[in-house]
Amino acid sequence: MLNNVLVCPVCREDLVPAGHALRCANRHTFDVARQGYVGLLTGGMRTGSADTADMVRARVAFLAAGHYAPLARAVAGAVAGCCPPGGTLLDAGAGTGYYLAAALEAVPEAAGLGLDLSKFALRQAGRAHPRATAATWDVWQPLPVRSGTVDVVLNVFAPRNGAEFHRVLKPGGALVVVTPTPRHLSELRGPAGLLTVDEAKEERLRRSLGDRFRPADAQLVEYRVDLGAGDMENLVLMGPSAHHVDPDELRRRIAQLTVPAAVTVSCRVAVYRAL
Ligand SMILES: C[S@@+](CC[C@H](N)C(=O)[O-])C[C@H]1O[C@@H](n2cnc3c(N)ncnc32)[C@H](O)[C@@H]1O
Ligand SMILES: [Zn+2]
Repeated sequence: MLNNVLVCPVCREDLVPAGHALRCANRHTFDVARQGYVGLLTGGMRTGSADTADMVRARVAFLAAGHYAPLARAVAGAVAGCCPPGGTLLDAGAGTGYYLAAALEAVPEAAGLGLDLSKFALRQAGRAHPRATAATWDVWQPLPVRSGTVDVVLNVFAPRNGAEFHRVLKPGGALVVVTPTPRHLSELRGPAGLLTVDEAKEERLRRSLGDRFRPADAQLVEYRVDLGAGDMENLVLMGPSAHHVDPDELRRRIAQLTVPAAVTVSCRVAVYRAL
């Protein structure tokens, strides 16, 4: 499905299926895991910022409860607005493939590639959608993707490499970025020890995209969800705050809250065009 998009990370030749692996003309071979993702990361790359097995378990449970479904619908709508039928979509930092699957569902015949550092997340992403391919990769490294082959790059709560996103996009292609606003989950920040959203995030986003992209559209997706104790626990343990909180302490704090509690989901879904 991903014709002429994936390249060998070693020599940049085309990667083509060869049994349970992908292989280039120079016989560099990358296994496809039982769970359906390709191991493209070569030895020696750091995986420090990858989501752990526990974080992924919490993310799968939280997303399955549907609290971010309205956000996924907004993302799918934004992608559908700029990806032609049969086009190619790259989700950088795809996690479990939740948004990639929603976006692929909204664009007939489109093919998707989800890249992520976490093999635990990719075990999910590899099966997220019949038209999705998932591969281990570090988005700070040159992407294993041929220049000018992608219609839309999707980036949801994940690291951004503006130069590489621009390189892989077709001329005029779109970058769809989802970022939390300072109101996102604000009710849980103090009580559950969630990290706060940096007010300068927007400015950093603009700087990271440099002069390679122009803003084309932006939508605020804001709504409230009623979260029970289990939802709150998953929400904290699936995100960056998981590195800073002790699960037992977190459970103690959540036990002191009145549940279910109304919590604000507030994100910006922004579309940029490659210049
Ligand atoms: C907050 S999660 C978001 C995942 C997904 N986009 C979602 O919203 O469900 C951030 C993701 O980025 C991945 N990640 C962190 N550093 C990365 C890197 N350098 N390259 C690729 N993925 C990375 C993590 O493993 C994790 O899956
Ligand atoms: Zn090669």
